[in-house]
Amino acid sequence: MKADRLLEEIKLKTDIVDIISEYVQLKKAGQNYKGLCPFHSEKTPSFMVSPSKQIFHCFGCGTGGDAVSFIIKYENISFSEAIKLLSKKAGIELSGFRLDKEASKKRETIIQVLKESLNFFRENLTESKSAQEYLNKRGIDKTTIESFHAGYAPMEWDVLFKYLKGMGYSDSVIKDAGLVTFDERGYRDVFRGRVIFPIFNLQNNVIAFGGRVMDDSQPKYLNSPETEVFKKGETLFALNLAKEEIRKKDYAIIVEGYLDTIICHQYGFKNTVAPLGTALTPGHLQKLKRLTQKVVLVFDGDDAGVSAARRSLSILYENDFRAKVLLLPEGEDPDSFLRKNDSHSFRTILHKAKSATDFLFSVSKGDRIDTVREALGIIASIKDLIIADELLCELADRSRINESALRGELKKIKTKVPMHRDVEGLRIGRTAMNREEYLLLSTIINFPEKADDVLSRLNIEDLRDETIKSLFKKIRALANKLNIRSLLDKTDNAERALITELSLKPSFDLEHVDRNIEDCFKKLIQRSLYERIRLAEESGDLNLLNSLLLEKKRLIKVVPA
Ligand code: UTP
Ligand code: MN
Repeated sequence: MKADRLLEEIKLKTDIVDIISEYVQLKKAGQNYKGLCPFHSEKTPSFMVSPSKQIFHCFGCGTGGDAVSFIIKYENISFSEAIKLLSKKAGIELSGFRLDKEASKKRETIIQVLKESLNFFRENLTESKSAQEYLNKRGIDKTTIESFHAGYAPMEWDVLFKYLKGMGYSDSVIKDAGLVTFDERGYRDVFRGRVIFPIFNLQNNVIAFGGRVMDDSQPKYLNSPETEVFKKGETLFALNLAKEEIRKKDYAIIVEGYLDTIICHQYGFKNTVAPLGTALTPGHLQKLKRLTQKVVLVFDGDDAGVSAARRSLSILYENDFRAKVLLLPEGEDPDSFLRKNDSHSFRTILHKAKSATDFLFSVSKGDRIDTVREALGIIASIKDLIIADELLCELADRSRINESALRGELKKIKTKVPMHRDVEGLRIGRTAMNREEYLLLSTIINFPEKADDVLSRLNIEDLRDETIKSLFKKIRALANKLNIRSLLDKTDNAERALITELSLKPSFDLEHVDRNIEDCFKKLIQRSLYERIRLAEESGDLNLLNSLLLEKKRLIKVVPA
């Protein structure tokens, strides 16, 4: 069965309300169903499911889609896995179903070749005195070496490559696994003369490696490049080992480095993870969110550590985490601190980790008001009202500015840029500037029969909002096959969220569709006129400016600004 047909079949045989009900408690609310959103924490339901449209949308976090995207996101599985799962639920026979078979086969082979490489590295560690000595010198004991599966890549040109070739793997698979590079001199191992720390996914498959030199040469660490199985922005080092403990303790310790993580685990702090030499991303937090929504950041107290902590705090709060910060004495990282002191002292300072506002005040070099603004900026980006409120009260306490004044300021910040968030946690300001674009899109989504009229008058290239622009292009391509569900099949996360949002909340008076369309076009004309006026002002072309201003006068009579 072809993927498209299978998808059609699933849509025919399943009802989104039944499917989501298995995961979320839904209550009838008018034509729709409501429940607590499973994708962010909330106390009052803003998660809506529409049986008539077969879509869901959360007005709290902006996530939306159809049954397939719900399953993909909730179960954290691929499209084809979601299709399989839904077919099973719907009792559809899957024989002959070949969707993505090749791609998943390739992923499997890459995982296999990585596993063989790990065996190779571990075998080599048992044969390398110098590597063992290095690990020993770094205070990593035998048990930890075992649990982290540390290894060693010998200082040779292409031993791993030859080893894997000898096992029958093809050049391209070895290359696609990120293990070798190719240039005019041939294939060369990526990792040479390095201690190896493998990186695992949550299923305990090795998906990449980190390698450290054993002297002062550069680069100190080398990571596998991104591959089909390894995405840096979604991978936390040691999450596979830390998973249970994070769940149990209900918080994660986030540190900066490989060694920090390893030593923390060795000293009993098994809920420790680290990003891989990159800043924390929403992708990392998505992975963590299923285990906890609390984090303690433990960073070096130097300038770099402080700014890393600042950035991480914003990302954490934007993604509905609560966070504390522990800055170590300057020049220390968790690894050096633990080895100089002991787990007891680390536990003691861990308990003294500062709350977000305390941290901001403690590192602030500027005046108090700047710090208050920085904190308000973070609060403004929090979706979860309870977390936002907690932080605001804390800020009022700490800054001794009264809460209502802070609330007033917060409101100003919030109205400046209405935040629209896509599912990846990126923020897109869908400002008053492109409201017409938004409403025109809404018109088409709610009244597909109006698409021809709108498309014939709209210059898609002039649209400012990239998500809206790309959606209009897709709508144009679908032409008369347009309906929400066909459109949903062709969209990315941000687009999908916008479609479901608009279908459940059109934002214009449905009784007056045509008037809405006319208003939008008038405003678009006006907008382009203002844009031309601005350009004329900039270029100093007075004649042009005058004629444009006249045009504006005429127009304003028709459309009050
Ligand atoms: P640091 O430079 O702080 O080193 O890098 P470290 O973790 O304390 O390393 P040790 O203790 O000297 O062994 C922090 C993290 O940044 C990434 C690594 O993930 C490292 O653990 N990094 C650093 C790189 O990816 N490449 C580099 O060259 C350096
Ligand atoms: Mn270190």
